[in-house]
Amino acid sequence: MGLPRLLLVVAALCGAQRIPELPSLPVPNEPFAVLEHVNLNSGRAWDRHVDAFYFEVLRCARDSRASHTLTRTNEAREFRSQPALANLSWANVGLQQFHLPVGDGMEDGDGHHFQTMRGEIALLYARGALDDLRARLEAWGAEVDDEFRFEGPFGNRFVVEAVDDSRSRELVGPVKGVRKGGMDTMFMGISEGVGIRGVAFDVPTGAAKKICKFYDLVFHAKTTLSKGACAVAIGFEQRLTFTDVAGDVPAYDGHHLAIYVNGDAWTATYDQLFVRGLLYNNPRFPQFKYDSLKDALEHNEFRIRGFPDLDAVEGHGHPIIFELEHEIRNLRHPGFALKSRLPRGPEHGFFGNEL
Ligand SMILES: *[C@@H]1O[C@H](CO)[C@@H](O)[C@H](O)[C@H]1NC(C)=O
Repeated sequence: MGLPRLLLVVAALCGAQRIPELPSLPVPNEPFAVLEHVNLNSGRAWDRHVDAFYFEVLRCARDSRASHTLTRTNEAREFRSQPALANLSWANVGLQQFHLPVGDGMEDGDGHHFQTMRGEIALLYARGALDDLRARLEAWGAEVDDEFRFEGPFGNRFVVEAVDDSRSRELVGPVKGVRKGGMDTMFMGISEGVGIRGVAFDVPTGAAKKICKFYDLVFHAKTTLSKGACAVAIGFEQRLTFTDVAGDVPAYDGHHLAIYVNGDAWTATYDQLFVRGLLYNNPRFPQFKYDSLKDALEHNEFRIRGFPDLDAVEGHGHPIIFELEHEIRNLRHPGFALKSRLPRGPEHGFFGNEL
């Protein structure tokens, strides 16, 4: 053990106050390591038809960790006299997930009990699974077009992309070669899909350019701006795209996505957002507050409410041009699926048996 490393261990043992180095993985397209979930509130009460879409038609795997989060969320809400969440399912597609709360009790604005993403969610399936998937979708009641686009519950739009059967057991994520049903993924169940490839959002005219600017300046993300479209590369093969559309974009209803930022870029991003007054505490999850870096480090996550217009008035809390809550986690987050692949030890921010 070299001297610098020894000093870190001593510092850790003495409980010295310092900002830990956060674990990272060798991913391309840093800082984003993986897009992990999209959250879509899915009705006033648990519904058989909605459940069937995710678990029987898409054949997502039911993630048993959802019940723990449901309990924790409701304990925190009760403590603050907030309404309880009625139910919560997590539907896994490989290493990615749909988070599906029902009966939220804390709906935005017009009291909608469901959320509809203002874009299209791309799913990956093995080529050989597509005919059966199409038949199940049609039996469920979806119309599937020639490009394999269809609507799921509450008007959410999906597109299925095919991967060759030869790599259909290889999951999409922050590590190459993770296999379905392998040791790393045992607690996640085996889904038929290989992963969530990304989401393509429709944004108001002129917003795509400003969204790219925000990802560039605040995250130092790998972005590509082409005529009216901003593409953001994530990890090995995921992406978010934002395309200017003419006419109105539907009002925001509070849906969100969760993304992991690699290593210390997470802390740097927190600082960037903090000075600009752009951090967001979501009242639906009152157990989490991100008012200081210490708070954020305690939960290994923070949130933003959407994309600010960095060209507009300088100052705190720029106007938001496109609302889209991001839950931004670091790789120490307890939800991170591939904990076994992280480098361990105090120099990587692990001081004990946290995970
Ligand atoms: C909650 O969701 C589960 C599926 O995740 C379902 O089996 C159960 O019936 C639901 N319970 C209630 C009270 O809605």
